[in-house]
Amino acid sequence: MINMNKKTIFSGMQPSGVITLGNYLGALKNWTTLQDEYNCLYCIVDMHAITVRQDPATLRKSSRNLLMQYIASGLNPEENIIYYQSHVPAHAELAWILNCYTYMGELSRMTQFKEKSSKHNENINAGLFTYPALMAADILLFQTDVVPVGIDQKQHLEITRDIAIRFNSIYGDVFKVPEVYLGKAGAKIMSLQDPLRKMSKSDSDVNATISLMDDPDTIVRKFKRSVTDSFAKVTFDEQNQPGISNLINIYSAVTGDSIETIEREFEGKGYGDFKLKVAEVVIEELRPIQQKFEELSKDSAYIDNIIKENAKRANYLAMKTLRKVQKKVGFPPIPK
Ligand code: AMP
Ligand code: TRP
Repeated sequence: MINMNKKTIFSGMQPSGVITLGNYLGALKNWTTLQDEYNCLYCIVDMHAITVRQDPATLRKSSRNLLMQYIASGLNPEENIIYYQSHVPAHAELAWILNCYTYMGELSRMTQFKEKSSKHNENINAGLFTYPALMAADILLFQTDVVPVGIDQKQHLEITRDIAIRFNSIYGDVFKVPEVYLGKAGAKIMSLQDPLRKMSKSDSDVNATISLMDDPDTIVRKFKRSVTDSFAKVTFDEQNQPGISNLINIYSAVTGDSIETIEREFEGKGYGDFKLKVAEVVIEELRPIQQKFEELSKDSAYIDNIIKENAKRANYLAMKTLRKVQKKVGFPPIPK
């Protein structure tokens, strides 16, 4: 429940496919370690997901799966507010207002917009362009202190801060200005097939990503096939050995061991041994998550109840900020 002495965390993921080890290590795993210390809201950002064309039935299913994966990964749905963005209309309303305080110039500098618009050049829609204003609304609605994300979202956090500061400078202290939180080892997990690109749930090459739901044989096979180099030394050198460095990062993010410890442990060992060891720790990390997910999938009444209750809690909190903002910009209240 909301504890006034604790700071607030907000973060979210798009339900646009099966989440990857990158999402897990870059975001979800950190979320679970932060949940006791903060009041947390973890959102399924389905409104962001439709900036790229989605099949409706698949989107519905992926959204529910994502919610169950949040819980299966260890997020407590009674302590944290885990909910669908589309269940809280204040996200869209605040996003509209913030759009009017966001410049075309700053939006056109966003790397994610540039990447997604070149990837989906048949559908460069206005939502894709103004995506950061919606993300700013997500965060600012809840007077968020800290936003734990992977490094690819840092730029969106910076624009969120700029929008908040700009708005506050006109209207007084309306929004808390949030800080970004980047985990150490997992902030950027790379593709297993092209270690210069980030691991992404929308990758068309299944061997490039580890899904949170992959079975042990698949995980071993994908790591065995992962692209490395011919130096034959387990050393962290992102310039010359990006593939091995990525595996070291994964190993470090899962086990908590430092890079130096890992280099020492595998000194003189071949890549084959190391890849198997990485596969092993990942399998053990995912096993309880997959088991919990299976259990949750069988209890649809429980999940429905969580969705319902958390939407109520999120709506209540969001309306507090939205009302304040509406008043500040000059929207009249409905007469009593
Ligand atoms: P998305 O898949 O874009 O919805 O991302 C959800 C969260 O996972 C965000 O916090 C991202 O920064 C994080 N994330 C996505 N891909 C990676 C990756 N390859 N490595 C680390 N974090 C990631
Ligand atoms: N843009 C984020 C991503 O693609 C998802 C997201 C939407 C988010 N709103 C957010 C993350 C608010 C943190 C806070 O990964």
